[in-house]
Amino acid sequence: MELAITLNKNLPEPLHQQLYEQLRQTILNGRLTPGERIPSTRFLAKSLSISRFTVTTSYEQLLSEGYLETVKGRGTFVCQQIPDNLIDSNPIEIIEKINPLPIKLSKYGNTLANIKNVPRIAEPELQINFRYGTPALSEFPIKIWRRLLSHYCNANLNWLDYSTEPSGYQPLRKAIAHYLTRSRAVNCEPEQILITNGTQQALDLILRLLIEPGETIAIENPGYLSARIIFETQGSQIVPISVDNSGLVVQELANFKDNIIRLVYVTPSHQFPTGAILSLPRRLELLSWAQQTGGLIIEDDYDSEFRYGEKPIPALQGLDKSDSVLYIGTFSKVLFPSLRIGYLVLPKSLVAIFTRAKWLCDRHLPVLEQQVLAEFIESGHLERHLRKMRSIYDQRRQVLVKVLKKHFGKRATILGEKAGIHIMVGFKSDLSDEEIIQSATKVGIGMMSANPHYLANHPKGEFIFGYGDLTETQLTEGIRRLAQIILCS
Ligand SMILES: Cc1ncc(COP(=O)(O)O)c(C=O)c1O
Repeated sequence: MELAITLNKNLPEPLHQQLYEQLRQTILNGRLTPGERIPSTRFLAKSLSISRFTVTTSYEQLLSEGYLETVKGRGTFVCQQIPDNLIDSNPIEIIEKINPLPIKLSKYGNTLANIKNVPRIAEPELQINFRYGTPALSEFPIKIWRRLLSHYCNANLNWLDYSTEPSGYQPLRKAIAHYLTRSRAVNCEPEQILITNGTQQALDLILRLLIEPGETIAIENPGYLSARIIFETQGSQIVPISVDNSGLVVQELANFKDNIIRLVYVTPSHQFPTGAILSLPRRLELLSWAQQTGGLIIEDDYDSEFRYGEKPIPALQGLDKSDSVLYIGTFSKVLFPSLRIGYLVLPKSLVAIFTRAKWLCDRHLPVLEQQVLAEFIESGHLERHLRKMRSIYDQRRQVLVKVLKKHFGKRATILGEKAGIHIMVGFKSDLSDEEIIQSATKVGIGMMSANPHYLANHPKGEFIFGYGDLTETQLTEGIRRLAQIILCS
């Protein structure tokens, strides 16, 4: 294995110290991963044209500090638990610590460097993880997907080349437009659809193309943290707007004069994380605000396919008469998150500039997966999968709510159970969120506090419970263990 290591004999530090430091950095920044074999001392000495003694000295230091381990007869490996990870698992701080050259960051880079929890990092394996986000992966129709992949892989080899459709594979745009018109009352033609790398890229493009740094964006409080981070890093002024049982409290927008709010980000079909559904009067009020002020609305419709007994309310986009709404959808919950396929429904006047930006940013999404997805939708597999999953999630949701009520009674308030694959629960407890999370981890339970999703009026004891990927047995057992922690405190 070749390692990119540069040693300089003219520096005051001895070579073994330079080698030690560079290997340590390579481990810390993840280029050498836990469990990975490192080159033998003989090989490395030869490839760097240095003595084997120098290499052995560096390796010995890394071995004694717990970065490396030797397995008899097999070689030297990166330790499964590296020491700095135990001290501090925030990757940004690690990068700062290990960066020996003070390379000046841009304003964007500096803002990002000060934001925690980006990117998502691997968590310890937990028996029952309520952390929100994952759909029921084991229920995914993998055989159908594999068959379609194999078919399109062999049909012809055009998919290997650059695509000339940066806005997305045309049959997929057509299939999505058809699906949205039918099931979400979205008003669109295939030409208005831009296929994106999930919701995240759609938000990023919107911000870069439509919002000047310093302009004001209104977000739900609480609201989706990953959206807020994009707004923050692009230099927006962010104002929190309250959320109640009917969703965003639209009247609060009127508190901001001079049309200062340029954009409102909302999750109307299933407010994240409270689960409130934006009522029809509020939808109309929000659209009227946009029409009067010239403001824009981002409608993030991330999981509304999963509704339990509630009648669907038409998407804001379908009610809009003034091209004020940018509608975003994703297959992360409906299918699986690593697919990284989402879509943005654009007013016609914006299609060309967004297509250009998409091409500049990453050319286009992989064609093969787009072909497979188009066929998956067109031949009815998506609708069938959704029907099956609605029933599975409904069952899981009912079990979760039932066990929560059984164990906690009035000491738990459950919110947002009418849609999606998560609920929000407020516990009455003297323990802090951190104490609950730590005690839960010790008994194999993963928990996610709602706190970081608030920009103002931070609560205590509110947690987001994802139930999509947990069986009924896991849900029951998980809540039982949690009750022992919270109720016995
Ligand atoms: C509010 C909200 N929007 C969108 C997404 C999906 O994002 P992406 O499409 O980038 O996977 C999530 C996923 O957790 C979400 O909670």
